[in-house]
Order: sequence, then structure tokens, then C-alpha cells
Amino acid sequence: MLPSEISALLIDTYGPPENLKIGKRPMPVAGEGEVLVKVAAAGVNRADVMQRQGKYPPPAGASDIPGMEISGIVAALGPNVSQWKTGDKICALLNGGGYADYVAVPEGHCLPVPDNMKLQDAAALPEAMITVYANLFESGALKSGETALIHGGSSGIGTMAIQMVKARGASVIVTVRTHEKREACYALGADFAVVYDEEDFVDTCRRATAGRGVDVVLDMVGGDYVVKNLTALCVGGRHVSIASQKGAKAEIDIRMIMQKRLVLTGSTLRGRDRAEKARLVTKLREEFWPGVATQKIKPVIYQRFPLKDGVQAHKMMENGAHIGKILLEIP
Ligand SMILES: NC(=O)c1ccc[n+]([C@@H]2O[C@H](COP(=O)([O-])OP(=O)(O)OC[C@H]3O[C@@H](n4cnc5c(N)ncnc54)[C@H](OP(=O)(O)O)[C@@H]3O)[C@@H](O)[C@H]2O)c1
Repeated sequence: MLPSEISALLIDTYGPPENLKIGKRPMPVAGEGEVLVKVAAAGVNRADVMQRQGKYPPPAGASDIPGMEISGIVAALGPNVSQWKTGDKICALLNGGGYADYVAVPEGHCLPVPDNMKLQDAAALPEAMITVYANLFESGALKSGETALIHGGSSGIGTMAIQMVKARGASVIVTVRTHEKREACYALGADFAVVYDEEDFVDTCRRATAGRGVDVVLDMVGGDYVVKNLTALCVGGRHVSIASQKGAKAEIDIRMIMQKRLVLTGSTLRGRDRAEKARLVTKLREEFWPGVATQKIKPVIYQRFPLKDGVQAHKMMENGAHIGKILLEIP
């Protein structure tokens, strides 16, 4: 028998971490093609921090409870669910609603948790792996033998991107703020890790590729990084924007785009529709889930907090010293 109410970590009003408060909401109902999941853990994402600050409102129709990825156990099935049964261990990409003890999610947005993985740890995978898949391998078309430059190498996204690039047989250069983060990126398989306050990443890209330049840049920094990124790219290189933490505007010499035949692209994940997210989940499952099952690709967990301590989790993310993912666990 399911309870009629759920416990959730809610945004009381937009503002500082202290505005996250535990509250009650009605039990979600699994609609057509959806499963109801008893949540074991939710991943904390930079976007949750921005949502709490009022800078990234949930899309129309999405839950206002934060949380864009979870792991847990299928507790009930909506009509016409074909892929899952109750009791299955899954992790899932959400539009929101993950900071709660139950959430409903389209069955096509779920992935199986391998038997050799702790259920909670799988909550670290969906948002980062799907973002990396969509941007680096689809939009950026990174292929085996090529080289990627990835900023924020120690971020939730970066730690997963390093492992996925290596699994694909490509090379990866990352940028980081500290020596501790640099060592962590090397331990994950990065070929070069640049401490950006000490070295020029454009020089490293040039040296690492014998003067040719990198094939793809995955950029979460924006601002004045964009011109440097374009300089670091080879002829035919691809520049993929996923965030603009240093500024949303950049002044570009268009002649560099023409001379090097560059492609500039980018995307957001949350705004994609249900069918498109299901397509990405299917592709990720085909191409990278075997690597997860064999532990070639592993979740990188920096810290775990109980859901009730979400304030500390958000403070930790804002502080920016973390390496990999921060999880909220539901006992
Ligand atoms: N477009 C999409 O679909 C999508 C999806 C998911 C995430 N994202 C974005 O991807 C980014 C990473 O997300 P996350 O959840 O993994 O967050 P996170 O773990 O907090 O990572 C943020 C990273 O940004 C780096 N950074 C911040 N300011 C920087 C600067 N001025 N110069 C260089 N690096 C800087 C930090 O690296 P250092 O500490 O080394 O400086 C940190 O590793 C976020 O900006 C997020 O919004 C986009």
C-alpha cells in the first residue's frame, strides 16, 4: 500500500540554500507509459542550484520539486508500460521532482542499474551521461582517434565525459582550477589536465596534437573562453556550448570560422521533449551502458547527504571544491 503523501525537499522561495525545506506533497501518479519509482538517491546538479536561485525555472508542466535524476525501485506501473516491472532497479532522467521519496517518470527515460552497482550510486549517471552523449558524441560527432577539450574536467559532467571519451577510444584534454582536481582527472584517464590559472590551455591543445588542434570542445564556461576554444580547434573542428558560467556573450572573428570551417553548436537537455529524451536514453544504453555494466565507466561520488540535509549539499556545490557528483540519499 503506497502512502498518500510524499516527503520532498522543496524550494520555499527563490534564494540561498537555506530556502530548501522538507515538505509534503501528494503522491505522484504514474500516467500513460510511466512508472512510479521509490527513490533511493537523487543527483545534485548545477541546474538545481540555478533553479533554487530563480535563474532556471522548470519547463512548463514539470514538477517544481527540484531534482533531474534519480535511482530507485519501480513501485507501480502506469497504463501500457512494457519495459519494466515492479521491483526493477532503475536510474532515470527527470524533468524535475527527484528530491522526493517517490517520483513518476516515463518508462523510456529509465535505464537498468547493473547488479554490481550500488543502487544509490546510479543516481549519478543519467544527467551527466546523457548530456555528454548528446553534446560530445552527437552534436560534436567525436570519433575514435580524435581529441576533445573539456572544460570543468572535475565537474559531474567532466568526470563522466573523461571516461566516455576514453571508452570511445579518443583522447581528452581537460581544464581544472586546482592540482587536486588535476590529479583526479588523470586518475580517471585524462591525457592532459591543465590547471587554467597556471597554464594556457590553447598551448597545451597545440602541443598535445602536434600543432593540429583539437577536434571538439565541450564548453561549459563561455565568455572569453569561446575565442580561445575556437583558436584551439583544428580545421573542421566542432564547438559545443552547454553552459555560459563566465558570460553569455563572446566576440568572435567570423573569419576564423570560415578559414577553419568550424561548426558552432550547443544545446540544453531539460527543454528537449519526451520522445527526444527517450531516443537519447536508448542510444546511450546501446553505446555506453555495456561500459557501465563492466565498470569501465563508473559514477564518481564526492559526497552523500540524506535528503533532509540538502542545504549542505547545495552549499557544497556552490563552494565548488567537489570532484564528481554530490548525492542526496533517501533512507
Ligand atoms: N546544456 C545542458 O544540457 C547541460 C546539462 C547538464 C549540465 N550542464 C552544465 O554543465 C556544467 C557542469 O554541470 P555539473 O552539474 O557537472 O556542475 P559542477 O559539478 O558544479 O561543475 C561546474 C564546473 O564548472 C567549472 N567552472 C566554473 N566556472 C569556471 C570558470 N570561470 N572557468 C573554468 N571553469 C569553470 C568548475 O571547474 P573548476 O572548479 O575547475 O573551475 C566546475 O568543475 C554546468 O554549468 C551546468 O549548468 C548543461
